Amino acid sequence: MTTVARRKAAERSAGDGGETAAALIPSGPSLQSLREAAAGCRACPLWERGTQTVFGEGSARSGVLLVGEQPGDMEDRTGKPFVGPAGQLLDRALEAAGIDRSRAYVTNVVKHFKWEPRGKRRIHQRPDAREIRACLPWLAAEIDVVRPEVVVCLGATAAQALLGSSFRVTRERGRIVASPLAPRALATVHPASILRIPDEAARRAELSRFIADLSAAARALG
Ligand code: URA
Repeated sequence: MTTVARRKAAERSAGDGGETAAALIPSGPSLQSLREAAAGCRACPLWERGTQTVFGEGSARSGVLLVGEQPGDMEDRTGKPFVGPAGQLLDRALEAAGIDRSRAYVTNVVKHFKWEPRGKRRIHQRPDAREIRACLPWLAAEIDVVRPEVVVCLGATAAQALLGSSFRVTRERGRIVASPLAPRALATVHPASILRIPDEAARRAELSRFIADLSAAARALG
């Protein structure tokens, strides 16, 4: 599939209407030129709330590309994806699944932290369809540059943005599915959802399932 077709496929699945970041994508992009261009993105209003754009991280030669929803509080402060509690759980699970994070590309569907104040805390809010659509050209361009063997969607926001709005993680998690994005794609739960499980035994069981899903991605990598 061509670059343009891939981008259009990604944009189509997210909804309609409104401005997107498409016009900001540099021609013949590299990860560095994309990162620099994304730093000034104003395609949706989330830039006003976030400290900075949190662009993806990793090598352009990564075989696996992992996509989350949006940066959280810690990511917003540091400018790096998946460095907070969910990122630490992801690191442990990747290691258990035999995927070296330093050889993976890690990014998000939306590149700014969406939050609302509650006392002194900044509470995560789900990005809406318009914000996702506005931001998707960045992710499509990252995928075009990295050309990963396997795309892993972490959670429903990433899975529905990339694999279609009718995709259900609960039904299809851990299965290789057809996608124009990469030779192989797979979705699993978001690591933050595991952290939210109050019961320790249930949390441990869910972590095992998460590791099993990531192991399927590792096997798909070959
Ligand atoms: N959750 C995400 O989806 N992405 C991050 O980078 C951190 C938390």
